[in-house]
Amino acid sequence: MPGMSVYAGFYKVGTPKKGEYVFVSATSGAVGQLIGQFAKLEGCYVAGSAGSKEKVDLLKNKFGFDEAFNYKEKHDLNAALKRYFPEGIDVYFENVGGKMLDAVLLNMRHHGRIAACGMISQYNLDEPEGTKNLLQILYKWIQIKGYMHRNYYHLYPKFLDLVLPYIREKKMVYVEDIVEALKMVQLPLLDFLVVATLENEWLLLLVNDAIIHCMNVA
Ligand SMILES: NC(=O)c1ccc[n+]([C@@H]2O[C@H](COP(=O)([O-])OP(=O)(O)OC[C@H]3O[C@@H](n4cnc5c(N)ncnc54)[C@H](OP(=O)(O)O)[C@@H]3O)[C@@H](O)[C@H]2O)c1
Repeated sequence: MPGMSVYAGFYKVGTPKKGEYVFVSATSGAVGQLIGQFAKLEGCYVAGSAGSKEKVDLLKNKFGFDEAFNYKEKHDLNAALKRYFPEGIDVYFENVGGKMLDAVLLNMRHHGRIAACGMISQYNLDEPEGTKNLLQILYKWIQIKGYMHRNYYHLYPKFLDLVLPYIREKKMVYVEDIVEALKMVQLPLLDFLVVATLENEWLLLLVNDAIIHCMNVA
């Protein structure tokens, strides 16, 4: 699912071109780290924000980002973005919203595109934060487009054609988080966690016979 979110957001919404300046927020997450790798493979300059030094190191040393910074240490996000994007941002992959979006708007280039994938900083707020710099959309002819991965599943074979050779050739990398302790509860887990399909159109995840998630895969 994160892979398809990235593929749709990159090739159908943000559409960065070779040599363009790309910024990604929540970069160490499942979506952000892939966006950065796609951007590098397409010949873009890419920088990202993450919430710790370890994540910033990972982005630069493992995932090949040109630059990365810890947004929690930057009290002036506008100044931080100016430092990493002196020429401005052509494409912003929006994963967090809020203050970051406000700062990005000030740093977008003319005809810039914002692919709104998510706004994780806003989901749990009682009152969503306001966005002050929307006038930049007008001044700089910026396009903002939201999207959902589920609307692009017809492109899944194309996604695999692109990404599998990259993985085999080690041009795309990933990190694994393996929890050995789960081995001990493997059987009980399998007993109560069931994946089923409904009319070949819906994928259902059931726990103890209750549907906890369903996804349209038609
Ligand atoms: N449109 C779609 O179809 C689609 C599909 C999948 C996901 N999404 C969205 O894409 C975004 C990223 O998803 P993901 O799967 O990559 O998530 P993830 O793997 O769970 O990573 C999310 C990361 O966001 C950062 N974060 C959490 N709270 C934050 C805050 N208040 N401000 C800034 N950063 C924060 C955290 O990293 P740090 O510790 O570095 O802050 C966290 O590791 C989310 O907004 C999600 O809802 C959209």
